[in-house]
Amino acid sequence: MTTTPHEGRTALVTGGSRGIGRAISRRLAAEGALVAVHYGHDHDAAERTVKEIIADGGRAFAVHAELGVPGDADALWAEFDRQLAAQDAESGLDVLVNNAGITLPRTIANVTEQDYDRLFAINTRAPFFIVQRGLERIRDGGAIVNVSSVTTRFAYPAIIAYTMSKGALDTFTLALAKELGPRGITVNAVAPGFTETEINPTLRNPEIRRNYSAESVFDRLGQPEDIAAVVSFAAGRDAGWTTGQWIDASGGVRI
Ligand SMILES: NC(=O)c1ccc[n+]([C@@H]2O[C@H](COP(=O)([O-])OP(=O)(O)OC[C@H]3O[C@@H](n4cnc5c(N)ncnc54)[C@H](OP(=O)(O)O)[C@@H]3O)[C@@H](O)[C@H]2O)c1
Repeated sequence: MTTTPHEGRTALVTGGSRGIGRAISRRLAAEGALVAVHYGHDHDAAERTVKEIIADGGRAFAVHAELGVPGDADALWAEFDRQLAAQDAESGLDVLVNNAGITLPRTIANVTEQDYDRLFAINTRAPFFIVQRGLERIRDGGAIVNVSSVTTRFAYPAIIAYTMSKGALDTFTLALAKELGPRGITVNAVAPGFTETEINPTLRNPEIRRNYSAESVFDRLGQPEDIAAVVSFAAGRDAGWTTGQWIDASGGVRI
């Protein structure tokens, strides 16, 4: 196996600036890809990630677009095209990672219509239209990875609407894999478990950390790098015979 499985490829990682997306961006770049590090609000975080990649000898650039608002997918691709051209790189891409997402730690009684619409707009609608508008840019033989969640595998009412938004992404993954098979494009979902990022501020509480850690058979929280390794594989040429799959990256939560 080559240590640079993404050599010569271009990748776009949505929400690639922080957390799991940052680790995915760094991993794909370390393995040879030119990486578009997308972000929505935190410009400094995106610039930091790009600088880290370049300092490690990789190639990356930042792409700004707020997701969850009307016209988000078109805005993202317009900015991607512009920034890619500024790199003097060939247009198009090989790998799309739909990673950007938000959570909603509320039970059914406490979810407002506004919460629900915003959650689905970012977690579900945005990836759908990013793929739809990106299809002509993604090269044959490429890969799409949708970042789902282990919480679509069991009942988790504490974040019910969030789990539904990711459940829809799983169904999207399956149908899209069939649609894009003739082009040799793989489509898979990678499902993290409890992972140490800023998405869940309650992880700062030692008792909650212990409880979430105990959910994994390895008795620890996932690190963004744990997830990035699985995404890199799913996006890579070595996984070219695997498509339409939901790949657990939870450290064995509730098995
Ligand atoms: N951490 C976990 O325990 C866990 C578990 C299962 C699944 N996941 C999934 O993994 C993915 C990454 O989560 P994470 O924990 O790494 O989250 P995070 O640390 O909060 O990072 C979220 C990323 O998404 C971007 N983003 C969020 N809302 C956006 C918007 N409206 N428009 C554009 N970009 C936006 C953020 O960029 P800006 O800040 O610049 O907007 C940031 O780069 C999500 O899809 C999440 O659902 C996480």
